[in-house]
Amino acid sequence: MADIVEQYRQGALNAKAAGFDGVEVHAANGYLLDQFLKSGSNHRSDEFGGSVENRMRLPLMVIEAVIDVWGKGNVGVRVSPTGSFNAMYDEDPVETFGEFAKRLNDLGISYIEVVEDSFQGNHANGRPESVIDAIQAGFHGTYIANGAYTAEEARKRIGNDRCDLVTFGRPFIANPDLPERFRQHAELNKWDDSTFYGGDERGYTDYPTLKELEPSV
Ligand SMILES: Cc1cc2nc3c(=O)[nH]c(=O)nc-3n(C[C@H](O)[C@H](O)[C@H](O)COP(=O)(O)O)c2cc1C
Repeated sequence: MADIVEQYRQGALNAKAAGFDGVEVHAANGYLLDQFLKSGSNHRSDEFGGSVENRMRLPLMVIEAVIDVWGKGNVGVRVSPTGSFNAMYDEDPVETFGEFAKRLNDLGISYIEVVEDSFQGNHANGRPESVIDAIQAGFHGTYIANGAYTAEEARKRIGNDRCDLVTFGRPFIANPDLPERFRQHAELNKWDDSTFYGGDERGYTDYPTLKELEPSV
């Protein structure tokens, strides 16, 4: 475990050497720290598994090491409490992520980014409002929401204090000028998911901007 923490510390140092402004510790979507947090994947019987306290242990050690390098104000953490990507599952995300949020609050990190939906699109049950409530009750820094947002829903939820900020993934891939399109309430290019993970040279750099779509006079 100590070696793993050191790898994250080295990553944080590397990010600093590369001139980044801060770092986000990835504890979402089935990556290593998420595997420790969630009861569905963490079947350990030592002090790193079992109770929520134990499942949070490695993620918190990592985050503390990263804070050592960066200072708490330049560190954020990404979680996906109800995300099923990479076969993830937690029996009680309200408890697990409510507790984790409190601990992140005590550490004083800058923000938490919550993937509120599987990015594979299963939005059928809506956003996990009780988990969001538990996280916000515990964590008082900036709450960033993510997952299948439209500009309209983002505006609404920011207005209703359900989040402070919203991040966008796929709409950004397909719309190089996404903020401008949101400002103008313009129509968006649709993404082509067959180009996300391979194929040929198409995708990512060849979606048109609004300007390029304007009919030439
Ligand atoms: C092509 C692609 C690759 C992604 N890779 C990662 C990844 O490596 N790690 C991660 O946490 N999320 C990854 N995501 C998920 C996004 O960060 C984001 O959470 C997701 O797309 C939901 O936001 P959206 O509905 O605005 O796209 C990826 C998404 C896409 C489309």
